[in-house]
Amino acid sequence: MAEDHDSAARRAETLREQIEYHNHRYYVLDDPEISDAEYDRLMSELEAIEREYPDLQTAYSPTQRVGSEPLAEFAELAHGEPMLSLANAFSEEALEDFDRRLREALDVQRVEYVGEPKLDGLSINLTYERGRLAGAATRGDGRVGEDITANARTIRSIPLVLLTDEPPERVEVRGEVVIRRSDFDRLNDQRLTRGEKPFANPRNAAAGSLRQLDSRVTARRPLTLFVFGIGECSRTLAGTHFGVLDVLRQWGFRVNERVEKVSGVAGCMDYHDRLIEDRDSLDYEIDGAVYKVNDRGAWRSLGTTARAPRWALAHKLPAREATTRVEAIIPSVGRTGVITPVADLDPVEVGGVTVSRATLHNLDEVHRKDVREGDMVMVRRAGDVIPEVVSVIESRRPEDATPWSMPAQCPVCGSEVVRIDDEAAHRCMGGLYCPAQRMGALMHFVSRRAMDIDGLGEKLIEQLVERERVSTAADLYRLTRSDLLGLERMGEKSSDNLLQAIDESRETTLPRFLYALGINQVGEVTARSLAEHFGSLEALMRADEESLTRVPDVGPVVAEAVRRFFGQSHNREVIDGLIDAGVTWPGPQAFDQGSGGRRLEGKTFVLTGALSGYTRDEARARIEALGGRVTSSVSGNTDYVVVGEDPGSKRDRAGQLGVTLLDEAGFEELTG
Ligand code: IVH
Repeated sequence: MAEDHDSAARRAETLREQIEYHNHRYYVLDDPEISDAEYDRLMSELEAIEREYPDLQTAYSPTQRVGSEPLAEFAELAHGEPMLSLANAFSEEALEDFDRRLREALDVQRVEYVGEPKLDGLSINLTYERGRLAGAATRGDGRVGEDITANARTIRSIPLVLLTDEPPERVEVRGEVVIRRSDFDRLNDQRLTRGEKPFANPRNAAAGSLRQLDSRVTARRPLTLFVFGIGECSRTLAGTHFGVLDVLRQWGFRVNERVEKVSGVAGCMDYHDRLIEDRDSLDYEIDGAVYKVNDRGAWRSLGTTARAPRWALAHKLPAREATTRVEAIIPSVGRTGVITPVADLDPVEVGGVTVSRATLHNLDEVHRKDVREGDMVMVRRAGDVIPEVVSVIESRRPEDATPWSMPAQCPVCGSEVVRIDDEAAHRCMGGLYCPAQRMGALMHFVSRRAMDIDGLGEKLIEQLVERERVSTAADLYRLTRSDLLGLERMGEKSSDNLLQAIDESRETTLPRFLYALGINQVGEVTARSLAEHFGSLEALMRADEESLTRVPDVGPVVAEAVRRFFGQSHNREVIDGLIDAGVTWPGPQAFDQGSGGRRLEGKTFVLTGALSGYTRDEARARIEALGGRVTSSVSGNTDYVVVGEDPGSKRDRAGQLGVTLLDEAGFEELTG
């Protein structure tokens, strides 16, 4: 028994080391060595041993990273050495002053610094005793913070045991806990799908997650620690700050990859400028550069003020958030017809750029944030992305501000505005006609799988639209040689080639034509199904939603989109224009169908009585689309008689001749 226990203890120790090794590879180095499944297997084995021998379970075991019972409140935890703040500089002059003071105090020509990004998260103080995590605290007032040890244990990038055989007796490791941008987006997506309120920014998310009384909640949040230094330490780790960071890296901590030695003011400025340049590509939020004197001997001689050390400086980057007023909320129509509410702002500088518009994404977002015209709002510019309204400052709302709503008509073309089921977006239904959608609609119309007009690219279409030669697809068929000759890079030969390509595109097929119309929700496959089912454009345009949903693969969403599209008089005018311009397609039989597509070839049908789901035309189109023929009287050559409500004498005649009778269900089965 004792032997079993001993070998279990040894195995548990090996597993713990292996798991922590893989944690480090995954969460600190971003370079996993084993699959998730293998990792889970190691973890399950360790859990099983700890279940069997509860005395082998320790607070330093990776099995403890899932969190524990909630606390009633946080206890206080004093820091060994105070956690100071940083002096700020907002300009190059302030940096020069700082550097001059240091050169004078240290009596040197040039100071060597370590440049670090100033991460925008929360600082944490981790205490390790004999290499094991013994406590974790927030900054608090700088001397005493909140004891968040249980939460810290759940953060996988915080080693529970330092990766060294010779840890100091006691050391405080300090750093910033953040949520990386990619993790933040995923976290907010999850929250939205669960109907929870998303976090306004990664910093709030990190703060809310770290200061949780229930560490099981913290365990599920994607927190990451970047270390930037040490506090109290029972022995000297290195003579320079850079050396200390190197030791921390070896112990298993994540040190920011942008940390580097820089020399003098010029080196600092260069570091600062590079950070600004690369800011958008970083996976975490930063709000400045930090310069620290590299020589730790100098730290002692320089000392600290009550607030901050004299050997470090935070050089702020321009803020990415600002408050301003929403002058108006404008529905903006994009080239696919999606209408995006955009806030027209009182111009404000954000992150070094003047911002006068910000996206509100969609109507749900406007309502969720309850943004109204006249509101004071917080706007944010993160990277190259369009600035967005983050939140409303409700205390500053004008009394007469009213909730915003989406207009019922497209502000550009006056067509109906519809929110198709299941979509967050509102769309203008005037796809063929709406000037805002012109470029998008034309590009799609001419594309290879639609009307396939070779040689008509974006640049040419742009020029034709700008010169008002083309406003809808029908205009393409009225272009003349002289219209084209004046365009960039269009000689006689290429003009003639293009005119010929346009001319040739007149002869098309119904599926291609339907696809080319760019009806929302109707891709190539649906276009083909619609064409096959209805047989003719007229039948399709007449179809109501119910008969549309009878088409294979067409659900209520597609049916609604199709019906709305054809419901717009503007769209119908453009379609008429195309047909007038000579766009044609052969009758239903000629569809180029897949195998089994013409399975009713040679079969003759007679229709009698009213079908509930189809008009006569639709039923005929369905049969013809599959290669069958419809005649008006029953004879010995008739293969099927389709019998609806109140059939006439044709049913009796079929009975006499022994012709197969089909009711509506049978008809559907045969043609479906
Ligand atoms: S050094 C005594 N380095 O900024 C030195 N702080 O304004 C104090 N911070 O509380 C910290 N990135 O939360 C240091 N690379 C970095 C930092 C950093 C972010 C935060 C930290 C600190 C605050 C001071």
